[in-house]
Amino acid sequence: MTEILKINPQKPELSLIQKAAQVIRAGGLVAFPTETVYGLGGNTFDPQAVQRIFLAKGRPANDPLIVHILNETWLEKVTTSFPPKTEVLVHRFWPGPLTLIFPRNPAIPPNVTAGGNSVAVRAPSHPVAQALLNAAGLPIAAPSANRFGHTSPTQAAHVYADLAGRIDLILDGGECPIGLESTVLDLTKEPPVILRPGGIPREEIERVIGTVHLGDKDQNGVKKDCLPSPGMLDRHYSPHSTLVLIENISGSRENAIQKIIEYLRLVQKDVQKRIGILTVDEEAHYFNVYQELEIISLGSLENLDQVGRNLFAGMRTLEQAGVDLILTTDYGEKGLGLAIRDRLRRAASQIIPA
Ligand code: TXA
Ligand code: MG
Repeated sequence: MTEILKINPQKPELSLIQKAAQVIRAGGLVAFPTETVYGLGGNTFDPQAVQRIFLAKGRPANDPLIVHILNETWLEKVTTSFPPKTEVLVHRFWPGPLTLIFPRNPAIPPNVTAGGNSVAVRAPSHPVAQALLNAAGLPIAAPSANRFGHTSPTQAAHVYADLAGRIDLILDGGECPIGLESTVLDLTKEPPVILRPGGIPREEIERVIGTVHLGDKDQNGVKKDCLPSPGMLDRHYSPHSTLVLIENISGSRENAIQKIIEYLRLVQKDVQKRIGILTVDEEAHYFNVYQELEIISLGSLENLDQVGRNLFAGMRTLEQAGVDLILTTDYGEKGLGLAIRDRLRRAASQIIPA
């Protein structure tokens, strides 16, 4: 049985937090909201709890977890040393959606880090996450609270759909304000490498520490700089419907939309296929003229925060509507655009350059 408790996202009720902290301390699993996505939390120092996280998600054991801490004073619980650039980054971005890679403190069970000697750490800013860490009094290991390979959850209902019956408790604090996972940055390389673009844009990090490289693959699928995070499988954020991404390389919105419409005309000949479109307010009118499309606007082109916040929920809504095929395009690589493009690429079965 999985219990769901509604909690105030700004001022979490202490009695609910204490109950959740008790579950964590007893080796149980609690899904909780963070500013990025819902996390599936367990006691970092309890290898059996950690094992339960992998089992509940169906996650392969070679994909390490992020350890969540209350603030930088907890760093010594999880690492033995840190690179010089840590301090300025932590000062600027914590609490918040930046995950840093450190040498693993031997006190951390090896299954947390998938046997590796490094550990990924972040201090979340969401009041529920902070209250839970504070009450539990220990670092909480937490991947995103979805079944392995599925779209990350940005609402408690998404967690319930994926993990009901497999975890003890869900704290329902409403919608996650960022909706995209944290940026994962490896400071042990010089220049530092972004292993996963996320809630803190590359440009903001570069303003603080200078040039950083991208650890992911480039447009042609050629690996850049270094190997990506072990968990950075190509298909990772997939809705159950097939997603086709018209990747906007040229920067021309008209061009990308034209390509979607061409593709649409082609597939609409197959009347059996139910088609969904993920779009933005400014561009929805191009698609409204077509019959029997499920159209979801993620927000305004001028507001990528909004687009990012709604992206995963949009994919899940189309999937639940029973859509066979989702057509969409990306919004460039400036700011959150890079993380949005990354998640769309990972969700896509096919990528068509435009
Ligand atoms: O925003 C987030 O980061 C959310 C919330 C819940 O905090 N968590 C999250 O966790 O997205 P997860 O497990 O879904 O993704 C963690 C990513 C994976 O790509 C994993 O491979 C990478 O971080 N990672 C974890 N430990 C690592 C390590 N020691 N070295 C390199 N990459 C690591
Ligand atoms: Mg995940």
